[in-house]
Order: sequence, then structure tokens, then C-alpha cells
Amino acid sequence: MGTLKHILLLFTGFVAAAHGQTCGGLIQGLNGTIESPGFPHGYPNYANCTWIIVTGERNRIQLYFHTFALEEDFDIVSIYDGQPQPGNLKMRLSGFMLPSPIVSSGSILALWFTTDFAVSAQGFKAIYEVLPSHTCGNPGLIPRGIIHGTRYNVGDKIRYSCVMGYVLEGHGVLTCIVSPGSGASWDFPVPFCRVEGSCGGTLRGTTGTISSPHFPSEYENNADCTWSILAEPGDTIALVFTDFQLEDRYDFLEISGTEAPSVW
Ligand SMILES: *[C@@H]1O[C@H](CO)[C@@H](O)[C@H](O)[C@H]1NC(C)=O
Ligand SMILES: *[C@@H]1O[C@H](CO)[C@@H](O)[C@H](O)[C@H]1NC(C)=O
Repeated sequence: MGTLKHILLLFTGFVAAAHGQTCGGLIQGLNGTIESPGFPHGYPNYANCTWIIVTGERNRIQLYFHTFALEEDFDIVSIYDGQPQPGNLKMRLSGFMLPSPIVSSGSILALWFTTDFAVSAQGFKAIYEVLPSHTCGNPGLIPRGIIHGTRYNVGDKIRYSCVMGYVLEGHGVLTCIVSPGSGASWDFPVPFCRVEGSCGGTLRGTTGTISSPHFPSEYENNADCTWSILAEPGDTIALVFTDFQLEDRYDFLEISGTEAPSVW
């Protein structure tokens, strides 16, 4: 498979020229939408589109996805916090899960969409909005969650809860604070809802907390929980324990780390 892909890639330049697809561009304005070429009927192979959203100084840009469906790992949207240069890479998005809202730290946010030689999907539609420096922006809905509060300015609080049968993991209340150097931001990452009685999950975001089931009460017998913490390429993850008490020799916490998959 590896060899086949390699050979086909040699023809990339030729086929892309034949497609003649134009996409991307410089975007200004208080709000708008960005769609992958051909949306919602599928994007072309060999796409290479760069959108650069530019707003006024001291403003930031919030981007949220309305639809997201890309061939996992091969068709990718890279998000840059600033101009589309490697040092500004904020995240790489692929697959079929709707990403959380993204807020730039400055007045430029860029998207780079690349697709490989085969397999397409519906594509993506994103909505961007300019945020004045005193607002944190909508932190977004969470699957099976309920958001309480509709004001996102400095000093405002919003609260998350979960629908019946689910419990909240992480901070339930977020406060919009002034953070040094980058205007307003939420003080904690968005929490998530997990099935009651289950444990573990996948965590993203720059900080967060993990606790054993029912903490600070006792965990149950026969618990078997796995948490995955995902960071951006090049970042490292630090884990700090504030409490640790397990039955000696019978209950364990194992920690392992891996590099990101090589396609990233
Ligand atoms: C986008 O801008 C238009 C005109 O400036 C405004 O009417 C509309 O409410 C805005 N939409 C959002 C989602 O902010
Ligand atoms: C994508 O387009 C940019 C400029 O538009 C070009 O510099 C770059 O080489 C292209 N990348 C690929 C993989 O075609």
C-alpha cells in the first residue's frame, strides 16, 4: 500500500492542474462561512486550499463547525493561530467528529485544507465570527450536555450539565476572565458528559482534571477505566497528582505515552 501511494503521488501536479479547482482566499468581514469546495456534495481529490481570516487589531476570531466529514487521517484541515506557517499550527482536524469551537489568540486565523489522491466525503462548513477583545465567545455545546447561560463577556459565567443517565466530567462552571496577553478566555476547558456508571474517556484541551469514579468518595470494585489525553503535535503532557490513594498491591493506575500517529 505504501508503495502504491508513493507512485501515485508522482502524478499529483499533473492531475491537480487538470482539475483547475480554485478555493481559499483572504476573508474579511465581521462574520461569514467557509465551505470546502463542492460542499455538501463532496470535495475533490488533490485539493489544496488556504483561507486566511483577517480582522481588526485587538479583535479575535471564533470559528465553529456546522458540518465536518473528511476521510480520516488523509484529508485534513490544519488550523493556524495566525498566518499559515508551521510555527502557528494550532491543530489538525480530520475524520467525522464535529470539532469544538476554536478561538484565535490574535487577529488572524488561517485554515489549510489538503486532500489526498482518493476517497472523498461530504466536507466541512465552518462559521466564523469576529470577537471583540472583551468577549470569550460561545464555548460550544457538548454531546449529551446542556449549556446554561448566554452571555460570554468578561465576568460572565456559564454552567454545563448533562442529560439523564450522563454525568459531567471536568469543571461544570466556566468563567470568562481576562488572560494575560490574549484578551478574554474561559478559565477551564469545556467539560464532557460520560455515561453514568462508566468511567474513562478522551480529553482534549490545554488543561483538565481526571478523577477516579465517585471521587472524593471511594471507587467501586472491579472498576476498569481508561483515559486518553490528546495534545497537539510537538506538545508534551504533564500529569500532576493532588490526591492518590489506592488499595495497596490490588488496585493499579498505569500510565503510558505515545507519539502521535506518523501521518500527523
Ligand atoms: C453576521 O453579520 C450580520 C450583518 O453584520 C448580522 O446581521 C448577523 O446577525 C451576524 N451573524 C452572526 C451569527 O453573528
Ligand atoms: C498548495 O498551494 C500552495 C500555494 O497556493 C503551494 O505553495 C503548495 O506547494 C501547494 N501544495 C501542494 C501539496 O500542492
